[in-house]
Amino acid sequence: MYLNARSVGLHDHTRMKGFETLKAYGLFDRNVPRYTSYPTATHFKAQVEPGRQARWLQQLQPGQSISLYVHIPFCRRVCWFCACRTQGLAGDSRLNRYLDGLHREIAWVADRLPTGVTVSRLHLGGGTPTLLSPDQLSALVGAIQHRFEFDHRVEFSVEIDPNEIDSERLAVLSHAGMNRASVGVQDFDPRVQQAIGRSQSYEITAQVVSQLRAHDIQSLNVDMLYGLPYQTEARLVRSIELLHALAPDRVALYGYAHVPWMAKRQILIPTDALPSTEARFYLAERAHSQWTSQGYEAIGIDHFARPDDGLARAKHQGLLRRNFQGYTDDTAPTLIGLGASAISKYPQGFIQNDPDTAGYLARIETGQSAGTRGHVFRGEDGTRARAIEMLLCDFAIDFHQLEAVDAHGAAQCRQIASHVASNFGKAVSLSEEALAIPPAMRPLTRLIAQWFDGYEVASSAHSSAI
Ligand SMILES: C[S@@+](CC[C@H](N)C(=O)[O-])C[C@H]1O[C@@H](n2cnc3c(N)ncnc32)[C@H](O)[C@@H]1O
Ligand code: SF4
Repeated sequence: MYLNARSVGLHDHTRMKGFETLKAYGLFDRNVPRYTSYPTATHFKAQVEPGRQARWLQQLQPGQSISLYVHIPFCRRVCWFCACRTQGLAGDSRLNRYLDGLHREIAWVADRLPTGVTVSRLHLGGGTPTLLSPDQLSALVGAIQHRFEFDHRVEFSVEIDPNEIDSERLAVLSHAGMNRASVGVQDFDPRVQQAIGRSQSYEITAQVVSQLRAHDIQSLNVDMLYGLPYQTEARLVRSIELLHALAPDRVALYGYAHVPWMAKRQILIPTDALPSTEARFYLAERAHSQWTSQGYEAIGIDHFARPDDGLARAKHQGLLRRNFQGYTDDTAPTLIGLGASAISKYPQGFIQNDPDTAGYLARIETGQSAGTRGHVFRGEDGTRARAIEMLLCDFAIDFHQLEAVDAHGAAQCRQIASHVASNFGKAVSLSEEALAIPPAMRPLTRLIAQWFDGYEVASSAHSSAI
């Protein structure tokens, strides 16, 4: 290991005491889900009978809002650290065929959606959606806008790789209504960038950010990672200073998930240069204090936002939610995922499209639904899901709110909460109203959330708890 707790400094007594408590509860040697859904996608079963997806679409009620997520699983360069579902772009014909498939799926879904269901969010993600040509982008967004009814306040966001965008594509997206953007950065340090197979200068990032602002982007998110090879506190702080100069509205600070058994490209990552789990903790802590001292509010376990940003407002109004993209202020109960591997969430359960691009196309081209795996909510799924979401969003489970979801499930969660309290001692506080995690113990949140997970959690399927 390249770093250890000592080499990243900080011998402050209070911090070390907190560190020892967190260690005693397993923070440094456990793997746990990130809980962007409950149950987690590893529990989806190949049990989506024909007709289910069409039925769930048809059962949506006029007047309801939905969110749309469109997945482009291609990148011109594939970064070694990346665990997203994406692949190198080998020729335009594959992309063209994929886009044909997407257009067919858009029509397939829109044909089954009742009139009066409106889109309140549209997100283009990947992979790299911005590798589409201006004409392809315009045709894709145009088809979506043509086939779905849109709320007039729709939020339209796009994941932007600064190395894969130009003024023409930005103009097309802006003209189509893009009002939010997420820019991938990870880390600006050249040594770190070289070790993760992603070079990206500050200058090019700053140029794209200023172009986005010129297009009146209302909310700009940047993604950064801690736990990367050769990352030190000094390097991380420098990256944060540079990022801060770009004045993002939101920051997603993810812990690098090193899972080469799932993301094969990660075998190129020099494992002996990876920080130890203890060092990851100090890196995360340092980034946390750096962003909060700059006036950003901590949001959930790994985001930061300016106090006037929608995420911070949602946090204060108790409207913060968690979905596959992390934290959101989107409270729509239905998310429809379009494209290979995309996951849809309906009030009745989850459906995931075929993760294999060829398999996805074969289904779509023969007029079938793209969904191959999923989960139908049953029993206490709804209450447990909400309990876990509350922990990850608010660091507290409000039992009265849970009772409004389902009295039986809420009683079960109360019982689990008392087991949590006996197991975690002073790391949590339990009252008649709530189970709460005090600020110093919040790194334990995912470990505590796991207690409310009624499904078996295979540690190999998940990443480090810190
Ligand atoms: C689809 S990718 C980014 C979009 C765009 N392709 C880019 O590179 O800018 C979304 C984000 O997932 C995060 N991510 C990817 N691989 C990760 C990993 N192994 N562990 C944690 N986060 C990861 C990165 O922060 C990345 O920016
Ligand atoms: S980080 Fe972005 S550009 Fe790099 S491989 Fe992942 S999705 Fe593609």
